[in-house]
Amino acid sequence: MHGYPFKDIIQVEVGDRKIPVRIAGRGEPLMLLHGYPLNSRLWDRVVPLLYTQFLCIAPDLRGFGCSAEEPKSFSMSNLADDCIKILDALQIRQSIALCGLSMGGYVAMEVAQRYPERLARLILTNTRANADDLAGMATRRSAAARALTEGVPKVVLPMLSKLLCQHTIANQLEVVELVRSMMLETRASTIAWAQLGMASRADFQYKMRDWTMPVVCIAGAEDPITPPEVLEQISGALPNAQFHSVENSSHLTPLECPQEFAKIIS
Ligand code: MLT
Repeated sequence: MHGYPFKDIIQVEVGDRKIPVRIAGRGEPLMLLHGYPLNSRLWDRVVPLLYTQFLCIAPDLRGFGCSAEEPKSFSMSNLADDCIKILDALQIRQSIALCGLSMGGYVAMEVAQRYPERLARLILTNTRANADDLAGMATRRSAAARALTEGVPKVVLPMLSKLLCQHTIANQLEVVELVRSMMLETRASTIAWAQLGMASRADFQYKMRDWTMPVVCIAGAEDPITPPEVLEQISGALPNAQFHSVENSSHLTPLECPQEFAKIIS
């Protein structure tokens, strides 16, 4: 059992590595996986609404946030293994609710495919199930190279106006600043390896038809990166899923509309 504040970082030892994890609350374990190029602070506005009901566990994925080490090459599947290692290290044996946003969703789908017995339910938010096409992979390779040669700001700052909707940018300056600071504090090497890891991710569009756990799919109504139709299609392909679209939100629904997001999860 862990009280609030969620800001405290625990370094969870997995083998010879340490993974920074934010933990708060009590109840059903809920693991929260952030997107790219962000970190566990993505959940800062939603955990205060969930921690009386859930044991919220939010790691900084390899190289992101408070990770001490420069990352080496990693795949979405390696990140899924890290999630299971964190649960084992925390001695969480019961099946959990797993929520992944965008890149975190790619990792959550790997967990659903390879460790379905660890999941009581799955929440896929602002993400997609298909793999990249050749053009998408080339764009990622170019972003990886540019992060290393031109620096992080040039690659990440143009993303801001897609990650957040106009309503958020005009009305929630603290959210804009939080997203900007998460992006700018991400290492160039993390940006590069994450892009290459996402470029080689698996396609789950067909595999997910066999997933029997309950799934909730959440979209931001104004998300140009993973529009509502994408999440609705995932929901339609799954045997046991619900779909929700949240108004006044783009790609970062838990930060832009934490009340609505928490209500759907609860
Ligand atoms: C994210 O928010 O994690 C990214 O948009 C994922 C991606 O680049 O596919």
